[in-house]
Amino acid sequence: MNTLPPLDEQAANDCAALCLYIQEKIKQNNGFLPFVDYMNWALYAPKYGYYSGRAEKIGQYGDFATAPQLTDLFGKCLARQLLQILPQTAGNIYEFGAGTGKLAVDILKWLPENAWQKYYIIELSADLQQRQRDYIQNKIPQYAHKIEHLCRLPEQFDGVILGNEVLDAMPCEVVEMREDGIYRMGVANTPQGFDWQGELATGFLLEQAIFRLPESVFPYRTEINLQAEAFVRTLAERLNCGGMLWIDYGFDAAEYYHPQRTMGTLIGHYRHHTVDNPFVFTGQMDLTAHIDFSAIADAATSQGLDFIGYTTQAAFLMACGITDFLCELGDTAGEEYIKTAAAVQKLLLPHEMGELFKCIAFGKNIDPDWIGFGGLDLSGKL
Ligand SMILES: C[S@@+](CC[C@H](N)C(=O)[O-])C[C@H]1O[C@@H](n2cnc3c(N)ncnc32)[C@H](O)[C@@H]1O
Repeated sequence: MNTLPPLDEQAANDCAALCLYIQEKIKQNNGFLPFVDYMNWALYAPKYGYYSGRAEKIGQYGDFATAPQLTDLFGKCLARQLLQILPQTAGNIYEFGAGTGKLAVDILKWLPENAWQKYYIIELSADLQQRQRDYIQNKIPQYAHKIEHLCRLPEQFDGVILGNEVLDAMPCEVVEMREDGIYRMGVANTPQGFDWQGELATGFLLEQAIFRLPESVFPYRTEINLQAEAFVRTLAERLNCGGMLWIDYGFDAAEYYHPQRTMGTLIGHYRHHTVDNPFVFTGQMDLTAHIDFSAIADAATSQGLDFIGYTTQAAFLMACGITDFLCELGDTAGEEYIKTAAAVQKLLLPHEMGELFKCIAFGKNIDPDWIGFGGLDLSGKL
């Protein structure tokens, strides 16, 4: 905590305003706010939530970097995958949580114009929506008329739904198994600020915790992302023809709820530092938890989608030709090649983003053999 760069004056005022607001919510809720609600306010409260505020979030001057920021070859690989699927659909792309807009631009730079109809962006953050519009207008003005921000979910999707690091940004429940029972974790007001507090879990959350958590490991704290799972179910229900592709960090259920992972995966990101305490810099720090891909697969297939594939980010990108694209840059001593090669390594290396990040896809009324899943098949782990 001592090593974190301090908040500037504006950020400190915004943080204080959001803390007051959440303190009130805790009081109204008899002194206990479920963590999922705290995370929702911390990330998405109007004006003061992390994604609602105007501060730079993604990239070198933000709090964390995502794959599209590293190299446009990430988008080129996705474009290659899309090129295979889109002709089997009405040709629409639906990107959720488009961040700075860079992935959209990179995909559309490589995708032949006649391969797609419309590029829809569904983004919760008004600030990011504006950044996306500006970036698109600046980089690919010729396509701006074919790119539309939607403020509500379409009734039906016909095309490809995709999202990079979106599911992990959805508020999750935190549960803790103790010798005397399973607790739903939440937040209480204390003289020192927010702190953890537990209440015995009940209902659906309790059922899910009993189903997922290992036996007899005390204390055992972890996350359950019911919201991300419900979100995938809703999209799956509405996918008429096409595919759904999610890229994110996470594991299958056995690895996620491994007896040795006793502290879960919840983490904060602030100016490229990771922070264990989620009550630090409320609204100024990103909060995220890894994805349980087994639960995501259940959510999508329970609504009738075909399972397409589950693999590591490295295997997916290599199957889509990332190393060929790198070679096409030519002069291996040139500045562009060296910079791109370093970024590609970061995307592929097992101890960087290559193995922790996974790709999972589902389809409806389309060919299930996607090029991206032609390499390593991890579906047996789900
Ligand atoms: C970690 S950022 C990733 C941004 C971008 N995809 C990238 O790779 O750089 C998470 C994004 O998901 C968005 N988001 C979270 N929940 C969402 C939802 N239910 N619908 C649409 N966007 C959402 C956030 O506003 C934010 O833009």
